[in-house]
Amino acid sequence: MATSERIFVQAIRSYGARHGVDVDVRAGGWLIAMRRGEMRRFAFGYDIGLNSAIAHRLASDKSATSEVLSLAGVPCIPHHLFLNPKLGRNVVGPDWREAMLALLHAHPQGVVVKPNEGTSGRSVFKVTTPADLDHAVGEVFSMSTGLVISPYVEIEDEVRVVLLDDAPLVAYSKQRGSDWRHNLDAGAKPLLLEDGAARAACVKLAAEAARAVGIRFASIDVVCVDGAWRVLEINSGVMMEALAKLHPELVQTTYDAALDRVFEATW
Ligand SMILES: Nc1ncnc2c1ncn2[C@@H]1O[C@H](COP(=O)(O)OP(=O)(O)O)[C@@H](O)[C@H]1O
Ligand SMILES: [Mg+2]
Repeated sequence: MATSERIFVQAIRSYGARHGVDVDVRAGGWLIAMRRGEMRRFAFGYDIGLNSAIAHRLASDKSATSEVLSLAGVPCIPHHLFLNPKLGRNVVGPDWREAMLALLHAHPQGVVVKPNEGTSGRSVFKVTTPADLDHAVGEVFSMSTGLVISPYVEIEDEVRVVLLDDAPLVAYSKQRGSDWRHNLDAGAKPLLLEDGAARAACVKLAAEAARAVGIRFASIDVVCVDGAWRVLEINSGVMMEALAKLHPELVQTTYDAALDRVFEATW
């Protein structure tokens, strides 16, 4: 087994060895074919295959997530969608830049510009001036079909909750380093939450968010702003590479629980 193999793949191999599941890793480790007897299942990227297609699409789209959460009355950070003008005039009207500038002016503390389908904190820009806005928009549109703009908020704490069918399997706070963003890829450190009021509040909010989009296995990021918790994003792929360096057993137990559901299903 290559040592560079993702923890996600290693965890599936380990589950397979203990549960009689043949595991065949393809496409440079990205596609994982699993077979137990007649049952054939797939994992792809960090998606273990439990979520419906629509739940996956809603979660993978920051704008759709924030719309669905607002509809359900779940507190969240708004994400306004702008489609790439390269899609053509029939798709994208002429007023997109004015609408972006209006959002910037409505939020003197600044806005955050990022790809609508997240990329682990890459191309996430804090913007306070029209010149910054043009730069950020150019960068994001050079690689993404959709861009989202949110008001910039002072995040007091950012917590990730991994949920499986309403049960919280993992909850940790992201201790950011020098950067203002909380991505583990950008150096933030996971710190498991002790039982208590903050953990309970985060888990409750994450479960409400999961129910609103109809997602079964997900990691849900919630942020504390002015003392109140709100949903920032839902990830339909559960990535625990950084957490596994500190808590390998917890990560394995979590993937085991999800894979039990994958193989108990009778569809
Ligand atoms: N509106 C915002 N205000 C303040 N910080 C933000 C805002 N949006 C994102 N961030 C910071 O940037 C990080 C990355 O943003 P996120 O929406 O999670 O995108 P990605 O899918 O790329 O991880 C977050 O973890 C958070 O710390
Ligand atoms: Mg994120």
